[in-house]
Formats: sequence, structure tokens, C-alpha cells
Amino acid sequence: MLDLKRQYRPLHHELLDALEHVLETQQFILGEPVAVFERAAAEYLGVAHATGCSSGTDALWLALAAAGIGPGMAVVTTPFSFFASVSSILRAGANPVLADIDPSTFNLDPVAVEAVLDGPRGAAVRAILPVHLYGQAANWTAFSRLGDTRGLKLIEDAAQAWGAEWDGVKAGGLGDIAAFSFYPTKNLSAAGDAGMVTTNSDELAERARMLRQHGMRRRYYHDEIGWNTRLDGFQGAILNVKLKYVAGWNKARRAVAKRYHALFAAAGLAESGPYPTHGVVLPHEAPGSRHAWHQYVLRTPRRDQLRAFLTERKIGSEIYYPVPLHLQKAFKVLGYAEGSFPQAERAAREVLALPIFPELREDEQQTVVAAIAEFLS
Ligand SMILES: Cc1ncc(COP(=O)(O)O)c(C=O)c1O
Repeated sequence: MLDLKRQYRPLHHELLDALEHVLETQQFILGEPVAVFERAAAEYLGVAHATGCSSGTDALWLALAAAGIGPGMAVVTTPFSFFASVSSILRAGANPVLADIDPSTFNLDPVAVEAVLDGPRGAAVRAILPVHLYGQAANWTAFSRLGDTRGLKLIEDAAQAWGAEWDGVKAGGLGDIAAFSFYPTKNLSAAGDAGMVTTNSDELAERARMLRQHGMRRRYYHDEIGWNTRLDGFQGAILNVKLKYVAGWNKARRAVAKRYHALFAAAGLAESGPYPTHGVVLPHEAPGSRHAWHQYVLRTPRRDQLRAFLTERKIGSEIYYPVPLHLQKAFKVLGYAEGSFPQAERAAREVLALPIFPELREDEQQTVVAAIAEFLS
């Protein structure tokens, strides 16, 4: 599914030098190595502020807390994402309210969000938290209109979307505040857990920095109850090295996606979407969006059988995500049931992610597509 060693080997010496520099400076928590990365990351994304923290999950919580989201407030998000998109809202003390997804992009559907805002729970909503799933930005034209007209904060879950764009603006600078993950499988990845909050607002950035250090503005004077969610120097140094290469890696991911498209088309397997009949519906780039191709996810009706067939042939694949969030045991408290979000439930039955990473070779992709063709025949 993913061979991280292919990325690591050519960077081996550069990474060791960066780690040695941290050892020499003995700045293990925040400090200069993290500050250097934060400045470079903000510049890359075209945002005013970047605040490193210890994971994407913490970045989501920090973004919500910095934006003033707390008890008595509701936040609208998607049922089709990683667990943390919803759990972080609960951790901020607020109530998650879910709306269904657009079946062609798998992202939160602005029309469904609007229906929630006009419904009985709409009055408590203070923010919308769209997830740029699989590396494709959510429909920001629609969400920024909703944010403006309804006076709501827009919080991006950009965990999977380093380098993604909407109308030429990079994810991380679209909403009021955004959260990134640098989990080792991400497009820009650390050697462990790491995350970041980005914003163009001086006020929100200042709050995020205060909250990541137990609510301190002055050492040992605590203004609010924050948390310890600092980024460590080794991760900052590693991320700063990789930041130089990530544009090239994203370009290579794009080429891999294009090659899959061509191989599936040539094999006559691609069906037009959004739902498959017996072949596969390929992922597509929505108008206005520049996909970061974190994942290449197709839809197919006999998904579980196809996955078993690929596994037998030692071809990696993954299901992001097999159970929509409203049907997770931990979120029973939210009060939803089977049938609450039909698009998310159908996606959870049909999606299959194929191997995609910058160093994936053409012959490997041919093997993947040939195996899928064999299964479908
Ligand atoms: C959409 C989404 N949100 C949040 C997270 C949480 O990030 P982390 O694993 O760094 O805590 C992830 C990580 O997989 C994610 O994919």
C-alpha cells in the first residue's frame, strides 16, 4: 500500500544532519527548529501563521478551542471521515451535528449543511468543519458563502490535504483556521506524531499558541485551561527537510493518479459516476479544486470481494472508512441511526483506496489494474 523507505533512503543523510543539529542545540520542545519549520510552512501555504503541535487530532482541538468553540455550541461536520473530525468537537465541549456527503467527491455536501442550519438544531451552530477528504478540498465556494451569510466560523480539517487548493488558494488558508496532520503516511509527514494549526488571523494564532502551552501567555501564569500539545524539535527538523520536497512529491502523486485513470480507461473498466454498477467509478477532481492525491479511492459494488482478491495477490488496498462516524459505537450518544446519512453509508460500503505514493512505479500500477480487471472479468 505504501513503501515509506523509498522516500526515506535518498534523504537519509539530510535527515540525520537535521536531527544532529537538534541534538547540538538541545532544543527538544518547540524552540528554533520548530520556529524555522513554522515560518517555512506558513510561507509555503500562503498563510500568516502556522503553529506546530503534537498531532492532527490535537490540531483540530486547538483550532476549535482557539476559535472559541465550547459548551452550548454546535459544529456541523461530516459522518464520512476519520474519527478525530467528530471526537475533537466533543473534546472542545461542543456538540457535533452531522450532514451527509456529496457522493461524487465524498466531501461534506453544502446543500445538506444548509438543511441542517435551517433545521431545529441550526440555531446552536457556530461553526462548520468540512474535511478535505483524501486530499481534495471541500467545495469552498459554497462553504465560504454559508460562513459569510450565516456568520459562522469555518474550520478546515486539512489533515489529508497538504498542497490541495480551491480556486488557487491552498488548503490551510481557506477558512478561519485549519488543522493539519503530519502522521507518517501523510503527503508531508513526520517521523512520529505531529500536527499544525494555520490561520490568517493574528488573534486566532495567538490563542492557538497560548492554548498549546497550558493556556500560558507568560511563563507559569495560566489564563485559560489549554493543554500540552507542543511540537518537538526532532519532528520540526524532519518536517523542515521534507517541506523542500513536498511540492515535487505532490506532483509525482498527480502523475500516479493520471496513470491510474489512463490504465483503467484503457482496460474499459471505468464507469461514469457517482455510483458504480459492476465496474469501478474513479475519483475525480471537482471544478475549482486541485487535488493533493493523498489517496486514490474508487467505488466498486463488490468491494469486499475485490479487496480479498487483491490481498491474495499481495496487492495492498485500504478502506477509508468502513463504518461512518454516526454508526460508530463511541458516537451512539449523538443519537443517529442506520439510514441517517445514506450517502455516507453507501460510500462506506463501496470505497476502496489503491496504493498511491510519489515513488510508486508504472509497472506496479499496471499490476494493480490488471488484477482488478481479472477480478471484474
Ligand atoms: C481527516 C483526518 N482528521 C484528523 C486526523 C488526525 O490526525 P492525527 O492522526 O495526526 O492525530 C486524521 C489522521 O489520520 C485525518 O485523516
